[in-house]
Amino acid sequence: MAAPTDTPTPVSLPANAVELRGLTKIYQPTGKAGPKHALKGIDLAIPRGSLFGLLGPNGAGKSTMINILAGLVNKTGGTATIWGHEVSEHPRRARASIGVVPQELNMDPFFTPREMLELQAGLYGVPKKERRTDELLEAVGLADKADAHARSLSGGMKRRLMVAKAMVHTPPVLILDEPTAGVDVELRRQLWEYVRTLNKSGTTVLLTTHYLQEAEELCDTIAIINHGQVVACEPKTTLLRRVDNKALCLTLERDLTAPPPSLEGYTVELPEPRRLVVRYQPSRQRAGAILSALAASGIGIVDVTTEESDLEDIFLQLTGGAHSDTGVIHAA
Ligand SMILES: Nc1ncnc2c1ncn2[C@@H]1O[C@H](COP(=O)(O)OP(=O)(O)O)[C@@H](O)[C@H]1O
Ligand SMILES: [Mg+2]
Repeated sequence: MAAPTDTPTPVSLPANAVELRGLTKIYQPTGKAGPKHALKGIDLAIPRGSLFGLLGPNGAGKSTMINILAGLVNKTGGTATIWGHEVSEHPRRARASIGVVPQELNMDPFFTPREMLELQAGLYGVPKKERRTDELLEAVGLADKADAHARSLSGGMKRRLMVAKAMVHTPPVLILDEPTAGVDVELRRQLWEYVRTLNKSGTTVLLTTHYLQEAEELCDTIAIINHGQVVACEPKTTLLRRVDNKALCLTLERDLTAPPPSLEGYTVELPEPRRLVVRYQPSRQRAGAILSALAASGIGIVDVTTEESDLEDIFLQLTGGAHSDTGVIHAA
């Protein structure tokens, strides 16, 4: 994908599309609330070409970070560099290097998608003959809505229109803040597909999400932030290996006094005489093998449920059990 038209093409492309060093944000006190330390020294490098997921629960600081990159929030300290341009030193160049889809959809209901893209292209100084309005509308599946009023678009369509709007100046970096919040499953897939296509054609993508599944399906690298701090940042495959555990919870026919020897090699708990919890790694162990081992020991099973690690568990794992501000784990 070409570099944005209003930015001089760097002689050598930056290794990192986005680089944050010691980034801090303290929101000033409002009303009764005291100052809010939303970012506490974020160090993060987003490699050029990656599809990078920033994962964290509500309130973690994701939008604050994105809004600093977008030039909508002033940082308190540290540096934030986009495509080689620090946001405070070179705000115009930094802004020209990114397209941002904010978490809150704000659009004028009286414009049509075509008008909105044309207006945005104008704001970015994209010459008429270089505009890609039709191509963008086509790409986000809104060609047939090009001349409809924005107020007649569904939530998912609006979200996709915002993606198109963020891309009018062909920025090398696309940032999406919770792109699929409130978007139904089918449209979510469509949006993911488009994001993948953009990424394959060279756009670096940074997206925030609080859906583990979204980061898992889409991103090649994942950073987890919690309480304004990075608690993990590593390739997805490395991260997923850490959360590779599931539990089989069994209600038994009779009391046990100790875990059966046939389950050697698994992590087994016996919280009650008739309740057995067996933890296993789905990547290399099968639930069926556990059930067979129990059957072979003559232990009857009344009921079975499974527990999967979710985002919360991963946080607990990554912060060493303390869901607090302290646990920082660096990627091995
Ligand atoms: N304008 C603001 N003024 C004061 N506090 C804010 C403001 N915006 C966000 N915060 C607080 O900063 C923290 C991080 O918020 P945010 O960046 O929106 O997190 P996320 O996007 O991960 O949900 C939260 O505690 C939030 O309440
Ligand atoms: Mg947010």
